[in-house]
Amino acid sequence: MKNIVILISGRGSNMQAIVEANIPAARIAAVLSNRPDAAGLAWAAERGIATAVVDHKQFASREAFDAQLAQVIDGYQPDLVVLAGFMRILTADFTRRYEGRMLNIHPSLLPAFPGLHTHARALEMGCKVAGCTVHFVTAELDHGPIVAQGVVTLQDDDTPDSVAARVLQLEHQLYPAAVRRFVAGELQIVDGKVASPAQPAASLLAPAP
Ligand code: GRF
Repeated sequence: MKNIVILISGRGSNMQAIVEANIPAARIAAVLSNRPDAAGLAWAAERGIATAVVDHKQFASREAFDAQLAQVIDGYQPDLVVLAGFMRILTADFTRRYEGRMLNIHPSLLPAFPGLHTHARALEMGCKVAGCTVHFVTAELDHGPIVAQGVVTLQDDDTPDSVAARVLQLEHQLYPAAVRRFVAGELQIVDGKVASPAQPAASLLAPAP
């Protein structure tokens, strides 16, 4: 059985998708948040999942926050740490500690558009597709070996919100599938890249709205 600790900052819909996927040989050991008011915490607690808060506002520095967060995470002996809408920049020490066993999902086709407001930036650039990326976490924000990507086609009348809604649906399929592959031992990092069988093209592309 692999222990998974999921980190959230808000509504936690990706966390919910992972929990509801009932991934074989995986146990959601805890859901942690840096924000006491994260809606996803109550959802997890109602399902009997351990929850805890490490409030970043209580710490004088990023280092102190990350050290305490790591201590709480390690209490659950995680095989995998899953960042699911966890809105904190992490220190290099923290990312090193979980190297090769921490995943993130980002709402763009990385390496395009790291950071915030990804859909607005894609529309501004006239991109014809957008999407999301599951990747291993490294010290550099929204970088790291890519595990899986999902693609949506952009329409002329799209807005950041309409794109976000379509991409989010895809995230809810892509992230549990990536976690399942990690748990099954299918994700090997070779030369900084995830060496794994390519996804069938059809599974990458969401149907047009
Ligand atoms: C998702 O769009 C994810 O890609 C990004 O933050 C959002 C989190 O949504 N990192 P939720 O909290 O999982 O609903």
